[in-house]
Amino acid sequence: MHNSKKTISTARGVALVRAIEMTRPASQRVASDPYAHRFCNPLSVQGMRLVNALGISRLIGVEPMMNFAIVRERAIEALMQRELADGLGQIVILGAGYDTRAYRLGTDVPVFEVDHPLTQANKREALKGVVDPLPQNVRFVGVDFDHDDLGERLSAEGFDAHKRTLFVWQGVTMYLTAAGVDHTLAFVANRAAAGSVIVFDYYDNREVSQGGGATIRFFTALMGEKTTFGIDAGDIEGFLTRRGFVDVQDDGPEAMARPYFTGPNAGRPMAPGVHIATARVP
Ligand SMILES: C[S@@+](CC[C@H](N)C(=O)[O-])C[C@H]1O[C@@H](n2cnc3c(N)ncnc32)[C@H](O)[C@@H]1O
Repeated sequence: MHNSKKTISTARGVALVRAIEMTRPASQRVASDPYAHRFCNPLSVQGMRLVNALGISRLIGVEPMMNFAIVRERAIEALMQRELADGLGQIVILGAGYDTRAYRLGTDVPVFEVDHPLTQANKREALKGVVDPLPQNVRFVGVDFDHDDLGERLSAEGFDAHKRTLFVWQGVTMYLTAAGVDHTLAFVANRAAAGSVIVFDYYDNREVSQGGGATIRFFTALMGEKTTFGIDAGDIEGFLTRRGFVDVQDDGPEAMARPYFTGPNAGRPMAPGVHIATARVP
């Protein structure tokens, strides 16, 4: 992803999905982000809400992708909390976009938000007077994944390679090149402390290539991007162990939705071919 306007529009698209979730009654929200609306045009939130209420998003296949974005937000936030409770030393959020979990986790451990400098500048501007000052443990690391050395940039901002780290890579791999994905995985596998964990979502190559990925392609096109990367979900364990990781876990759409789409949320449709993987640095 070279175009900075596009990087911002995908970040804004995900914030919009979170802002729409916030318009549900509190008891029916799967994920809560009280700051999401700061990054969105209020008309877009109300417009999309209407499109949802009329059943149009379900008809055109956008609702299952929005639901996926909400479930992954909640599932990864739960993992962040579990890992913090388990004595984590630091968190790195790769392609953080308008993710605001760092300001709501209630932790003192360093959180490195890595993203394109332009997206970060917009984020800080939108949060002025709202989350102000930003928590001291949050550090912004401006990186263009296609051109900059992630390790160098993180070290310059105080990343400690001896601390057990959680790397969160949410909503990013699908927009990168295979080489870009490999560079980042190699950095985590080779440079992070033993016991560090990476969590990321990805699209199943089989789903995307066999024509079933129309929903995914349509959604990403709506966000102003193209899907450039996927993994064969049947080989995710091999994919990650070949790159130096252990303890690979993978959840497809049903497994991801099961804990959250219950009660008033039962029956919310999930997109096919979407996965969350976690793996550990030995
Ligand atoms: C779909 S957004 C996801 C944002 C966030 N993780 C979330 O879930 O809300 C993708 C993010 O990856 C970042 N990104 C993509 N390609 C990038 C690149 N080459 N360099 C820096 N950041 C990039 C974008 O700026 C954007 O914030």
